[in-house]
Amino acid sequence: MSKLPATGTNIFTIMSALATTHQAINLGQGFPDYQMDATLVNLVHTAMQEGFNQYVPMSGYTPLLQTLANKIETLYHHQINPATDITITPGGTYAIYTALISILHPGDEVIVFQPCYDSYIPNIIINGAIPVLVDLEFPGFTIDWEKVKSKITHKTRAIIINSPHNPTGTILYENDLLALQQIILDTNIIIISDEVYEHIVFDNEKHESVLKYPELANRSFACFSFGKVFNATGWKLGYAVAPQHLMNEFKKVHQYNAFSCNSPMQVAIHHYLQQPDSYRQLSTIQQQKRDYFSELIKTSKFNLLPSKGSFFICADYSGISTEPDTQFAIRLTEQYKIATIPLSVFYENKTDNRIIRVCFAKKESTLQQAAEKILSI
Ligand SMILES: Cc1ncc(COP(=O)(O)O)c(C=O)c1O
Repeated sequence: MSKLPATGTNIFTIMSALATTHQAINLGQGFPDYQMDATLVNLVHTAMQEGFNQYVPMSGYTPLLQTLANKIETLYHHQINPATDITITPGGTYAIYTALISILHPGDEVIVFQPCYDSYIPNIIINGAIPVLVDLEFPGFTIDWEKVKSKITHKTRAIIINSPHNPTGTILYENDLLALQQIILDTNIIIISDEVYEHIVFDNEKHESVLKYPELANRSFACFSFGKVFNATGWKLGYAVAPQHLMNEFKKVHQYNAFSCNSPMQVAIHHYLQQPDSYRQLSTIQQQKRDYFSELIKTSKFNLLPSKGSFFICADYSGISTEPDTQFAIRLTEQYKIATIPLSVFYENKTDNRIIRVCFAKKESTLQQAAEKILSI
């Protein structure tokens, strides 16, 4: 009997395959179509040539752990012990999954906001736990913390938050983190904070990490992705940060699963991160792409929703069609050769507000070609 009977092939696989079949421009899946920094590629090459090709310690290459601890202290004023509070993982998704496995027991409840990144709900269910869904308020996709509070029971084991947010491009603000801190004060709830887009925040806003808030940091797994930061999504490398008592449990799972991650890339990232420009420029680069794309299609029949971070912007197509969003996204791929992701797939109950998600982390030429097609609709 299947452990995930309701789970099929995910939409990214389906839409990317459809994009290939129809030779469509792929603005669906969240990955850059331009090259990553050659400096980092060269650092990997050097690390391999220097012989960093065997296992590194289970929690990661020791100098990299120290570098990340320093970065966290600089950015979020939070001190961690690199020897105990951090683990390098094969990607952000793995970090989230491992955090959930390490804390969940059958029957536990986990509060999840929807729409959400598609791994969360299957990751909860496979542990015999129960996702408790809270809708983000439409159309701003904000969190009503009173609603969250009303969903907390004695079985609530965790809350998953994600900022900057996939699929909506919204971010959490200081007020949100303070509200979260307040409602879990007298509970044992653990926070899983998906921060893979931490360095992609627009309009001079700041990324609000749980690590900035001592009460939250003390009961959170913060999950990060080097793939998203370094335009290297195919590397599948990330890390999790948590206080020692939580990270101990995480490592018990990790040591018999991945055990340790790719060595030369960890060595290379350690060296690369000595230049903070490597991540400090990211918001500006992606904001330019967001603005470039928005400007190109401003006379189209799509209505773009605000995007404050991530690789994504949502487009309301209700001025074009009344089709359900999946049908519309498929037609857009087949007829107009642009692949996007319908927002309903990020909802458990397939809520359909006639919105598609567009990834703008693409070359200007790709965005230009896409815009020409969009303007012809
Ligand atoms: C919100 C969110 N979390 C996690 C991930 C996955 O990161 P990784 O590729 O490092 O597993 C993604 C990738 O799209 C994402 O959008």
